[in-house]
Amino acid sequence: MTNILVLHGPNLNLLGLREPDVYGRMTLEDINQHLQTLAAAHSVKLRIVQSNHEGVLIDTIHEVRAWANGILINPGAFTHTSYALRDAIAAVDLATVEVHLSNVYAREAFRHHSVLAAICVGQMSGFGWRSYEWGFLALLAHLQEE
Ligand code: DQA
Repeated sequence: MTNILVLHGPNLNLLGLREPDVYGRMTLEDINQHLQTLAAAHSVKLRIVQSNHEGVLIDTIHEVRAWANGILINPGAFTHTSYALRDAIAAVDLATVEVHLSNVYAREAFRHHSVLAAICVGQMSGFGWRSYEWGFLALLAHLQEE
């Protein structure tokens, strides 16, 4: 059985309401449901956590250290600022894929840099909710080849 932690960072609890032109109209619950269905089809177990707090995200990464095979994370704005989140992922040494609903490189300059990208297997950005789907499949393929 493959176990994957899905982490959603700050403000993603407001998906569906939040800037729908940028992030789409699907709610976080819709995305989670979709991921659960996809995971079940691949015999993958998910643990899904959303938090607006950097420390909760870091504690969760520490907690799943022995359980998870990999991490799928949309770090929200922490993508661009959080060395602590980066260090947590590096510390647990779990294969991680970074996802973004929007194409961060087509937006404001501060979104062009990810402090996490270098310690991730790769990044999926700009495909709306499908960034999660394709990020999940990319992570799974990576884990199967590891
Ligand atoms: C985001 C992009 C980030 O720049 C932003 O702060 C978010 C969402 C995305 O999914 O496109 O909160 O991670």
